[in-house]
Amino acid sequence: MKSPNPFSPGFSAPPSAFFGRTDYLDRVRSSLGDRLDPNRCFFVEGTRGSGKTVLLHQLGTMTRERGWFALTMNSLHATAELLEVLSEEFGVHQTLRASLKPTLTIPGLGNASVGEVRAETKGDHATPLLTTTVTRALRKKSRWKGLFIGIDEGQRLDEHDAVEICSAFQEARSQGLPMVLVIAGLPGTHERIGAFPNCTFVKRAPRMVLEPFSVDETLGALASLFAKVPEIELTQDALFELGHFTQGHPYLVQLVGYHLYEVVDRAHAEELAGSKGRVRPTENEIRAAEALAYELYRENILKPVVDPLGAKTIAYLAALAETMDEDGVMANDASVAKAIGKQGTRQTAEYRRSLIDKCLLEDLGRGKLGFVIPYIPRYLRERAETMRVVDRTGKWKREM
Ligand SMILES: Nc1ncnc2c1ncn2[C@@H]1O[C@H](COP(=O)(O)OP(=O)(O)O)[C@@H](O)[C@H]1O
Ligand SMILES: [Mg+2]
Repeated sequence: MKSPNPFSPGFSAPPSAFFGRTDYLDRVRSSLGDRLDPNRCFFVEGTRGSGKTVLLHQLGTMTRERGWFALTMNSLHATAELLEVLSEEFGVHQTLRASLKPTLTIPGLGNASVGEVRAETKGDHATPLLTTTVTRALRKKSRWKGLFIGIDEGQRLDEHDAVEICSAFQEARSQGLPMVLVIAGLPGTHERIGAFPNCTFVKRAPRMVLEPFSVDETLGALASLFAKVPEIELTQDALFELGHFTQGHPYLVQLVGYHLYEVVDRAHAEELAGSKGRVRPTENEIRAAEALAYELYRENILKPVVDPLGAKTIAYLAALAETMDEDGVMANDASVAKAIGKQGTRQTAEYRRSLIDKCLLEDLGRGKLGFVIPYIPRYLRERAETMRVVDRTGKWKREM
């Protein structure tokens, strides 16, 4: 095929095409313009694969295009990294930086030792080094209009780094300096960081919860990317089938699109080699692409999300999935409690609450629940089946 594959389902590298999340991009974009906008700290929250890292990168790109200095980084050693990059870029704290550098490079020591260095004293009060660095950088004449900091994997941000970063942000905001802070993390990150000293303002920060794409967004994303491959002709029915398969999960959109391109490319190599080669994928080819997409989705999303939950919670989920109707609505009723050997629904409330907090279940009101991540019931069934096989094999071995 002459046109390259426009889909890029790689998990670490940013995708070649970004789609959706327009309201969140707009919210951050509009906060760049107004120096006194109180909403310059945002929280991006979502389960694994919901698009947190990708959105953070997109926000970085967008702010950079608007003349801001944008930094997105992992939460590990965030203070040390920020000090390093800001000192370099804005030429602040040159002397301190020189003395800090050796500490920064010692693996294992990381940010704790760095962050404990206090830069300046105002009376008895020591100002953290990062706060001084950030405010000085922003006061300095430079080519940048402001500073965008994106912290990824916020659930792993340690208290020390959280306090450093939040203090620097608060100070910049109180001085009217242009800084935007976005922290991305798994559900619950917001509450965890908000409980640290000096970070309570975080509790009021707007949250951007990454939900699956709507039907229109999903079909729009698929259609716009397949439009870049004129060799593949997708009927409306095929487009809808693919969209339905993804259930609006952004990673599944990338995966299924990527594999359909590959399947078609392999199956019709000769036809496509011609100058006007154009093929309409068959139903079997669509199914094959979906199967390949599901396999990777299962390994990269379902397994890491479901397997660590613990046997009892998984049993609860499996019993709950049994109550699912054709609209995907489930009831947390007595039959679920009975299936896992509990007397009443009250005893399952604990599982229910923790799964809602983790954004795996969605509370639909009146005791009804839904799964947030697609294909969990299918994975639970497959998992139970594998367990049975493993079990039988074990018995058979013992009997030998
Ligand atoms: N808005 C988006 N546009 C395009 N692809 C996306 C988008 N969001 C997520 N993806 C796809 O899903 C994959 C997982 O997203 P990622 O941001 O790494 O998830 P998270 O950080 O929440 O675990 C990405 O590699 C990308 O292929
Ligand atoms: Mg991520």
